[in-house]
Amino acid sequence: MTSACRQVAARMVAPGKGILAADESIGTMSMRLGKAGVEPSEENRRGYRELLATTPGLADGVSGIIFCDETLRQRLSDGRTFADGLAAAGILPGIKVDTGTTACPGLPGETITEGLDGLAGRLAEYAQLGAAFAKWRAVIRIGDDLPSEAGVRANAHALARYAAACQQAGIVPIVEPEVLMDGTHSLRRCAQVTTRVHHAVIAELAAFSVDPAGMVLKPNMIVEGASYPERSTPEQVAEATVNGLLSVLPNDLAGVAFLSGGQPAERATANLAAMQAHRTPWPLTFSFGRALVNVALTAWAGDAGRVPAGQSALAERVAANAEAVRGRQRVQTG
Ligand code: 13P
Repeated sequence: MTSACRQVAARMVAPGKGILAADESIGTMSMRLGKAGVEPSEENRRGYRELLATTPGLADGVSGIIFCDETLRQRLSDGRTFADGLAAAGILPGIKVDTGTTACPGLPGETITEGLDGLAGRLAEYAQLGAAFAKWRAVIRIGDDLPSEAGVRANAHALARYAAACQQAGIVPIVEPEVLMDGTHSLRRCAQVTTRVHHAVIAELAAFSVDPAGMVLKPNMIVEGASYPERSTPEQVAEATVNGLLSVLPNDLAGVAFLSGGQPAERATANLAAMQAHRTPWPLTFSFGRALVNVALTAWAGDAGRVPAGQSALAERVAANAEAVRGRQRVQTG
């Protein structure tokens, strides 16, 4: 199992490639379709994911796509499952296995991510449905007194239990501790909180014997809060983000694939490109959702005749991000 996970994890972060996050829950996806003027039906959620997954040339810049439970059980128009269609195109199918966040009792203002009960059984089924990797997202909010130690610890603990269960099932875990951009905090404060969260996550992963070489970390970039008055440059974001990661992560981690977190698409790409000038022992790539797919959804808008327009909008963002990560330098440190 260990070497299989290592091989898949290396494929997920292969040079010049990143991951496409298309795993919005039914509720979130329906809301986004509605905003784009598309009826939020099961068929439209399926059709939209088919548009993304069958984009010509997608495998040139995308190593894997994350789906939600609904999509993994749906079929492409030609009758193949999404997982089979991706595998034929040389793209790894992934599955979001957390069941979402809920207010954490005893910790006002903080959430805990659920989905551990019965996880081993669900992972076994997802493996049969063709999933090669999984995702679990923990959400950390920055506030005056937030996050609390208990909130960080509880979320790190859940991430580690999930990751250990994945590796036991032969599925590569994407470990996603997201520190939200919401708020007025500075870049420096985001750096402090993100590094604190990463310390807790790495300690829990080690405690549960998770193999770093058989997993991918999906962190936020270190940026100021969305309501902070100034915008930092890509070089400032890159320096803070890479220095933070270097201070915490083990050298044998398979790779780092960033979420976009609500940044404008071009900013996320520019930040990712600037990071490649820094030397790190692991590849730094993308696992973007909104920064890849928003343009595709807008261009398509539910019109069958505009599927090619949606696909070329996605292809353009994928090409820009693949280009960004091609500049990377990699060294062994320590
Ligand atoms: P964003 O890139 O839109 O933040 O989404 C990534 C993701 O998978 C969130 O869980």
